[in-house]
Amino acid sequence: MPTRYPPIVPRYFHFLHGADYNPEQWIDTPEIWDEDMRLMKLANCNVMTMGVFSWVSLEPAEGVFTFGWLDAAMDRLANNNAFAVLATPSSSRPAWLSAGYPEVARVKSDRRRMMHGGRHFHCYTSPIFREKVGAINRKLAERYKDHPALVAWHVCNEYGGECHCDLCQQAFRAWLRERYHDDLDALNKAWWAPFWSHTYTEWSQIESPGELGHVVLHGLNLDWKRFVTHQTIDFFKRECKPLRELTPQVPVTTNFMTNCPGIDYWKFADAVDVVSWDSYPNYHDRDDTWKGAALQSFLHDLTRCLKRGKPFMQMESTPSAANWNPINKLKRPGVHQTEMLQAVAHGADTIQYFQWRKNRGNAEKFHGAVVDHCGHENTRVFRDAAAIGGLLQKLDPVIGTSREAEVAVLFDWENGWIIDDIKGPRNENKKYLETCVAHYREFWSRGVPVDIVGEEGDFSKYRLLIAPMLYMLRPGVADRIIYFVNNGGVFVTTYLSGIADESDLCFLGGWPGPLRKLLGIWTEEIDALYDDESVSIVPVKRNAAGLSGIYKARLFCDLIHAEGARVLAKYRSEFYAGRPALTCNAYGKGEAWYIASRNDERFHADFLGNLISRLKLRRVIAANLPGGVTAQMRSDGTREFIFLLNFTRKPHEIEIGARACTNMQTEKKAGPIVKLSGYGSAVLMRELKAV
Ligand code: GLA
Ligand code: ZN
Repeated sequence: MPTRYPPIVPRYFHFLHGADYNPEQWIDTPEIWDEDMRLMKLANCNVMTMGVFSWVSLEPAEGVFTFGWLDAAMDRLANNNAFAVLATPSSSRPAWLSAGYPEVARVKSDRRRMMHGGRHFHCYTSPIFREKVGAINRKLAERYKDHPALVAWHVCNEYGGECHCDLCQQAFRAWLRERYHDDLDALNKAWWAPFWSHTYTEWSQIESPGELGHVVLHGLNLDWKRFVTHQTIDFFKRECKPLRELTPQVPVTTNFMTNCPGIDYWKFADAVDVVSWDSYPNYHDRDDTWKGAALQSFLHDLTRCLKRGKPFMQMESTPSAANWNPINKLKRPGVHQTEMLQAVAHGADTIQYFQWRKNRGNAEKFHGAVVDHCGHENTRVFRDAAAIGGLLQKLDPVIGTSREAEVAVLFDWENGWIIDDIKGPRNENKKYLETCVAHYREFWSRGVPVDIVGEEGDFSKYRLLIAPMLYMLRPGVADRIIYFVNNGGVFVTTYLSGIADESDLCFLGGWPGPLRKLLGIWTEEIDALYDDESVSIVPVKRNAAGLSGIYKARLFCDLIHAEGARVLAKYRSEFYAGRPALTCNAYGKGEAWYIASRNDERFHADFLGNLISRLKLRRVIAANLPGGVTAQMRSDGTREFIFLLNFTRKPHEIEIGARACTNMQTEKKAGPIVKLSGYGSAVLMRELKAV
């Protein structure tokens, strides 16, 4: 049964709708402060995120604090029945701090120290920086701990990047000593260090990877990235100390960039109370933007699954266009609602924007905001935001609900890091995330709910586990996959799987290493193709995989031998014509599939479509959906909330079946056909049948 989680604000069963708000930039214009309160009500906003980049406005000189403006802004929100998500200001530090303590500035991988300015360019290790951040955070917590507006802490902003200063080098070595139990020999073995004479004889010889030195030790590169994740979380925990001490009842989050490769969020998620992320899709770029919508759904699902299904906060999104894409197209009519409902459909319990009011100057003055430079509410963007705010008020029953999926796609940051790093068989366009999404998209297009899991995830609750490009198998992962299949699970993996362990040491004795018996195959070689080349694949006659016609393979083609597995498709061209391209091995109560090459969309559609029907996987609605439309679902165990989302410019009619449904927007009965306009969306509620 789906679980109902408590709301983010205790006993407040309403969506939070709001934006990043910078009243300190408008201190000289009190009339704008007044106007903001009026406009927030009109836009149906009930939360503002404040203080994200406000350090210098809170501490203009070391030890001199000016909280007056924030007191006033917090009070105003509370007096207007709105909440504050209060940020710690560590992501952009005052000039006095950089000038007084040069060590706080980050050192880049080329060993040059960065200048003051911009944001986020600090060292996570520096004891002075940690002390200064701890002090301002303590002041904030002391001051606002009992403030009625405070609902959550937004710690720092989009943690990211790495520092290579001496302090970080020392911390890295200490981390390595712990990881390798003080055994330098063990480290040298894990890093295959005799290669090009890299063996270390003292811990002090080890340095982080950088352009000026060694980048060839994959074990070192991996451990450095692991350390960066560790050190970022450690810094985050230091930031949280006064908050947790003084406001244990207030949830702590930090806005993740789930779409970015830098930090292992499977690890970071354990340290936050609620996951939040910044979602900036680009649907409107081209006619086929719905493909980007599947990526965004994948990222929302990934974000929800970081805390095993618990609803998350969409901490940022743009109400119109961003400003950092090469081309920043405006959202087409309908897109804003559909984009926001998409986040809700996948588990968001808040809809927040960057930003409330456009800045007057500098880099983000053209970035979308609810309130434009014109300063009033008579704009398309304002109306769109207000409309979503109004709609969210009708969706209260959705708060805290989640979903049960029968399918999981395995996506793992460490696996992505090493795929990026390996030299050969291809050194560009390896497309790990894209390949995960290419598989995900077939479920998305058919309205089949999907979870995303990491290598350490719990596979046992799924019926189907898809693990594209599962190059790295950390200890225990293969055993858990084997256990999963043995108990009746269906496992699908692809080329470039089962190659190396957690240090990127290749498995000996034939790929896919510890999965070889399970899959019943041996991968002898991997061919890499140029981007414009393809190899044909032909299914065997009367195959059980739903395949027909000729398919195209690109980028990677594994040359495999069936060792007990059934062959369902073969290569038709190249010197490996006739060799297996798709295999299935019956194992225990389940089955294990191997897709030997990166195949075209039609292959995914036929193969995964066939698995969906053969396994009778639960779909949100029974009818086929038009291309570019998805149906997603949340449930509290007694009711289902169905989200129909059209990411195409064309209107569509969706057959939802005869079961009684209410359209939560119009509050009228819906079905059996629901009409969606171009880029249109609908939220329906239906009772679950009594069991
Ligand atoms: C990020 C940041 C925000 C803002 C937006 C612009 O998500 O967190 O402060 O710069 O980008 O899109
Ligand atoms: Zn540093």
